[in-house]
Amino acid sequence: MKKFKRYLVTSALPYANGPVHIGHLAGVYIPSDIYVRYLRLRGEDVISVCGSDEHGVPITIKARQEGVTPQDIVDKYHGIIKEAFKGLGMSFDIYSRTTSPMHHETAAGFFRTLYDKGEFTEQTTMQYYDEEARQFLADRYIVGTCPHCQNDRAYGDQCEKCGTSLNATDLINPRSAITGSVPVMRETKHWFLPLDKHEEFLRKWILEGHKEWKANVYGQCKSWLDLGLQPRAVSRDLDWGIPVPVEGAEGKVLYVWFDAPIGYISATKELTPEWEKYWKDEETKMVHFIGKDNIVFHCIVFPAMLRAHGGYILPENVPANEFLNLEGDKISTSRNWAVWLHEYLEEFPGKEDVLRYVLCANAPETKDNDFTWKDFQARNNNELVAVLGNFVNRALVLTDKYFGGRVPAPGELTDYDRDTLGELPAIKRSLEENIENYRFREALKDAMNIARLGNKYLADTEPWKLIKTDEARVATILNLALQITANLAIAIEPFMPFTSEKILRLLCVDKLGWEQLGETALLAPGHEISKPELLFEKIEDSVIEAQLQKLADTRKKNLAKEASRTIAEQKDSVTFDDFGRMDIRVATILEAEKMAKTKKLLKLKIDTGLDKRTIVSGIAEHYTPESLVGKQVLVLVNLEPRELKGVISQGMILMAQTPGGELVLLGPSGPVVSGSTVG
Ligand code: 2FM
Ligand code: ZN
Repeated sequence: MKKFKRYLVTSALPYANGPVHIGHLAGVYIPSDIYVRYLRLRGEDVISVCGSDEHGVPITIKARQEGVTPQDIVDKYHGIIKEAFKGLGMSFDIYSRTTSPMHHETAAGFFRTLYDKGEFTEQTTMQYYDEEARQFLADRYIVGTCPHCQNDRAYGDQCEKCGTSLNATDLINPRSAITGSVPVMRETKHWFLPLDKHEEFLRKWILEGHKEWKANVYGQCKSWLDLGLQPRAVSRDLDWGIPVPVEGAEGKVLYVWFDAPIGYISATKELTPEWEKYWKDEETKMVHFIGKDNIVFHCIVFPAMLRAHGGYILPENVPANEFLNLEGDKISTSRNWAVWLHEYLEEFPGKEDVLRYVLCANAPETKDNDFTWKDFQARNNNELVAVLGNFVNRALVLTDKYFGGRVPAPGELTDYDRDTLGELPAIKRSLEENIENYRFREALKDAMNIARLGNKYLADTEPWKLIKTDEARVATILNLALQITANLAIAIEPFMPFTSEKILRLLCVDKLGWEQLGETALLAPGHEISKPELLFEKIEDSVIEAQLQKLADTRKKNLAKEASRTIAEQKDSVTFDDFGRMDIRVATILEAEKMAKTKKLLKLKIDTGLDKRTIVSGIAEHYTPESLVGKQVLVLVNLEPRELKGVISQGMILMAQTPGGELVLLGPSGPVVSGSTVG
């Protein structure tokens, strides 16, 4: 295998239109952090770059919905994401953002080079245009009826109900999401990257040259290539993004998927003046960590861009993961079906490594996987507490108790001692091979096997029994147990950096390097260690139940939202006479008060023009009594009087009931005299 001089590790730039959740972590960030921490421990020259992806239509939509600017949105989420990553111990060398001046300059320069080299084609196409808003509509800004499932809220790029990818022109009854008006077709010019021109090269490079890529990645690339590549537009009509740096391109910006991967380059430039050595030297190994929805961009489009530009290296590997589900359902930002990293860090302080552990142990490396809170609890209690924590604690407590917290000197080793220590090099080899081949779940098992080995060793040798009769033997046993503990601290560092650091602190040892893994004299006899502290604590059922309740509440809210979109069906026909028998009038509310011991009822005194009377109305949850006085409303005055909670109600106030259960009073659009008839 080729030996590289240095490594450049990139992690997909998260969209700054929402916080980061466990799906992102398990798919991209935990694996990438394990990989770079491992390389650093080995003493390799490695840099890890990431940042927020801050352009694109969804950000503009969110801004519009919230009545703020796109910059406000990205500032908010960039801050939340960056802080949360730091809290979880993500060790990026730089976490930048694509609104940075460096990125704008770099991405515009990149485009300009391709433009000047004639690497783009120009095409004039017909696009939807909103005449009222006076702008072209990105696919996400067009809504209409899905031709497949009739969902009348499908977007121009996708129907979220049936999951089908759409073109805006597929939609039945398209409407602008901005103004609601019917859009028209208008000509617009865009720049395209002719991927077809790079197809031959990509075929060879991936299908012949990178057979070692993960099956899911290789398979997706092969399907794309077998379908034949088409030119792809790299510009958009939008006012948020990097302006296309070409004359006559007013109102056009770079397509977000053109500028985002260039963000890796800009971040490296920001990090070091030696950025070119990481991007342009064949002795650099570049690895992109991404989720499966990003495969085509990182394996086909970005390499084509780099090649068209010239001078850049291409990725050696793109170890994309599949998706993580949550309690059996797809994680969804819009449905709030997620475990958000920033919330986890707040709710589980000091348990950063528990999440890192569970997400790695359960990472969707070869297929989609499910995160459940019960599994989270079980892995914490049965693996971190019972295996890892238990072993380290026993080694420290026994040393403290029998040898006053000093590393005892070993005597002669038995065969069993030698066999136990002899397992370490094999574990190390397996760990290395697994990490280097992006099998992080297996690698984590290897690391945990060191704790299992230690537990078994203590259980088999039973130093707590021997101490009465053979202190010298116990000294050997605990010396070995402490050496295994130090080994463990090295092996788990990439996965659980906080715990590794804590073990080293308890052992009173500075950082250990990867090359020391497997050594059995890491702690000298007589070396003093700290008082024992627990590494992990049991997670109680009540904690898990609270999380499950939180999700149940979300599910309920989503169902209510869904239900609120269902319009009540039309009732059976009535005759004109039936309708004519109803005497509906405009009335004015004179007084309003809450009825004692009821939640929903208000007692209203109204002027019907005919008389002043009392009506009991079920609107207390929607209107305060004060807000009603003086309002003109519609009243069915000839409804038979009925008694409600001891009050005779003489008529009914008419209201609109929204599908979501809101009640809204109805009245004339301008003042009229009370008693005016309605019909
Ligand atoms: O899928 C995503 O979240 C994208 N924001 C990833 C971009 S990766 C890169 F190209 F920047
Ligand atoms: Zn559909």
